[in-house]
Amino acid sequence: MKRALALLAFLLGWLVLGATPASAHVEVLSSTPGDGARLSAAPSLVSITLSENVGIQPGSIKVVDLTGRQVDSGPVFQPGDVAEQVGVRLQPDLPDGSYLVEYAFVSADSHPVRGTFAFVVGTGPLVTSAGAVSAATGTDAAVDAVSTTVRWLAYVGVVLLGGLAFLVLCRPAGRTDRRARRLLYWGSGLVAAATVATFVLQGPYAAGRGLEAVFDTGLLADTLRVAYGKLLLLRLAALAALTVLLPRLLRPGLPDRLRSRYENVAMVTGFLVLLTFSATGHPVSDPIMFVSVTADLVHFGAIALWAGGLVQLALCLHRPADGEDLTAVATRFSRIAAGSVTAIALSGAVLALRIMPSLETLWTTKFGLLVLLKIAGLAILLLVASRSRRAVRRGLAPAPADGATAVVTADVRKLRLAVGVEVLLSVVVLALAALLTVTPPGG
Ligand code: HEM
Repeated sequence: MKRALALLAFLLGWLVLGATPASAHVEVLSSTPGDGARLSAAPSLVSITLSENVGIQPGSIKVVDLTGRQVDSGPVFQPGDVAEQVGVRLQPDLPDGSYLVEYAFVSADSHPVRGTFAFVVGTGPLVTSAGAVSAATGTDAAVDAVSTTVRWLAYVGVVLLGGLAFLVLCRPAGRTDRRARRLLYWGSGLVAAATVATFVLQGPYAAGRGLEAVFDTGLLADTLRVAYGKLLLLRLAALAALTVLLPRLLRPGLPDRLRSRYENVAMVTGFLVLLTFSATGHPVSDPIMFVSVTADLVHFGAIALWAGGLVQLALCLHRPADGEDLTAVATRFSRIAAGSVTAIALSGAVLALRIMPSLETLWTTKFGLLVLLKIAGLAILLLVASRSRRAVRRGLAPAPADGATAVVTADVRKLRLAVGVEVLLSVVVLALAALLTVTPPGG
């Protein structure tokens, strides 16, 4: 125990003091020409150096003259050896005058970064980029709200799918329970629908447009070109594989070898689904990305295991199979829940410390407030869970094998209530998580 505490203290010390925390989103470090530059001759290209490598994003840099005429020519490209530097060529022999550069990049964590700068060729007046673009740099409020709701629904779907582990590890009798299976299919359908919605919303989100732009083919193509869009497609493919696998994996009387093969494939596809979330959020903005992405995978995996198990346990307590030993089911789950909660708390702490620019962020920003609310949510969940554990330790009456109405003991009733409250609280904390992922860590 002492060793575990010492290890934890060392880990937290290293995370807080030893390593550079993640920056917020991608930033523009410099540009050529610089903002406000006055040049004697027209440049042949405009380039921008960013704080992270976002790849080549077509249409991400546009240069216009004072009449709004586009003067760049050719695609966005990498003009040098630096992966973080991108640029666009200009039309030859540009006349003297003022030019405005508009850029819009989608950072690795899927958030848009937009802005402008200006330069002058010759003796013309210098336009300042301030004001000209202020209305175009935000995101649309309706798109923001729908995107956050969709993210929350995706989390609920992942949790429902996580119930598969409960059926495999804690309640083998539930494999043939139609309601238990249906929960898994709803989960997979919900994640798939939310993924399609996320894909069509990303274009308007990144471009600062409204909901009417969700079917704009140009924006859909833009989303497809960036890593985020590709990862969403990977999520859909992994979900399709998992959905095809489900009835095979849950078939009763499956030979052991085949069952373990199906279980391995289910684990790999489940891992891919989780990875598409971790690889498209704030964890990728950590300079030591491996730490945050791994912590996020552990965090979300443990949540799916725990909250998915809670939903299935609630169903099992209300409709046990004939002769089902509820104590055995609840005891098996109780062990998994204890391990998962420890993993959630530790990985959540690692994530918060890596993603927040400083410890002070915890009490001075909206991001910090949301993290504190999540910690409070977990503390209340643990309080309710301790009631469940007490009921399980006392033992629960098995469901009668002859189909007669089960005698609902006071302990089963208490456990039902406690598990029901835990499920509801988890849904609320998932909503806090969805809000957290769209909130800039520094603000
Ligand atoms: C000690 C308690 C917890 C802390 C400190 C914590 C902290 C965090 C942090 C910092 C993130 C990363 C957010 C981002 O990407 O911007 C995160 C993600 C998340 N958390 Fe927690 N969390 C805690 C408990 C929970 C609980 C109890 C749940 C669910 C019932 C939960 C659900 C999630 C989900 C779904 C994500 C998003 C994963 C993803 O999109 O990859 N967290 N959490």
